[in-house]
Amino acid sequence: MANLFDLRRDFTLKVLDESDLLPDPMELFRRWLDEAISVKTMEPNAMNLATADKDGRPSSRIVLLKQIRPEGFVFFTNYESKKAKQISENKYCALNFVWHELERQVRVEGIVEKVPETESDLYFEMRPAKSKLGAWASPQSKVIPSRSYLEQLMVDFTSKFSGVEIPRPQNWGGYILKPHLIEFWQGRSNRLHDRIQYLLTEKGWHIERLAP
Ligand SMILES: Cc1cc2nc3c(=O)[nH]c(=O)nc-3n(C[C@H](O)[C@H](O)[C@H](O)COP(=O)(O)O)c2cc1C
Repeated sequence: MANLFDLRRDFTLKVLDESDLLPDPMELFRRWLDEAISVKTMEPNAMNLATADKDGRPSSRIVLLKQIRPEGFVFFTNYESKKAKQISENKYCALNFVWHELERQVRVEGIVEKVPETESDLYFEMRPAKSKLGAWASPQSKVIPSRSYLEQLMVDFTSKFSGVEIPRPQNWGGYILKPHLIEFWQGRSNRLHDRIQYLLTEKGWHIERLAP
């Protein structure tokens, strides 16, 4: 195996200057995500979602960003999953995006709440039939006896909804993370990276530079 101490690279692609900033960090985020999509990064809308339980014990996993709204970041999942249980106990969550091809990272902190049911219905409607059935078949985060148990559930739901419109399961839907902090990180040479943080205050977004 390679010596991990020797694995490092310098970041020289881009800079993040105060003149590159926009007053609204959601607009800047949209611009960065567009760039990540245009340079064909792998899974540009994948983000790490960190949650914590009522005692502050953390847990994180990747989910897909499905909508950017002026007020926050929307993702979809199972409302009975581990993440959902933690969100119900502790609404404070964090997101992390990394786009290696652009040497960029975005960190987000905020509170998470469910989106209205009509919006979950709207997105569920757009999903391919197999994904809809998958949402019915998977008791996400629960222990299951075997792979074949899961595959049998898929067969059962496929036949249950054969020839009819597949409705959204009540335990599946969207959440929105409403940020109070967004940090834009641009890799720079010699570990002197650019870090710009937007903090939400009573007067609006306050912008400051952080040491790398
Ligand atoms: C690239 C990628 C995208 C994913 N997107 C989602 C997603 O949008 N929603 C989701 O519930 N799980 C998604 N997953 C699976 C989650 O990482 C995780 O395994 C699942 O949500 C269960 O997490 P939990 O037990 O902490 O609730 C994705 C995984 C990967 C690797």
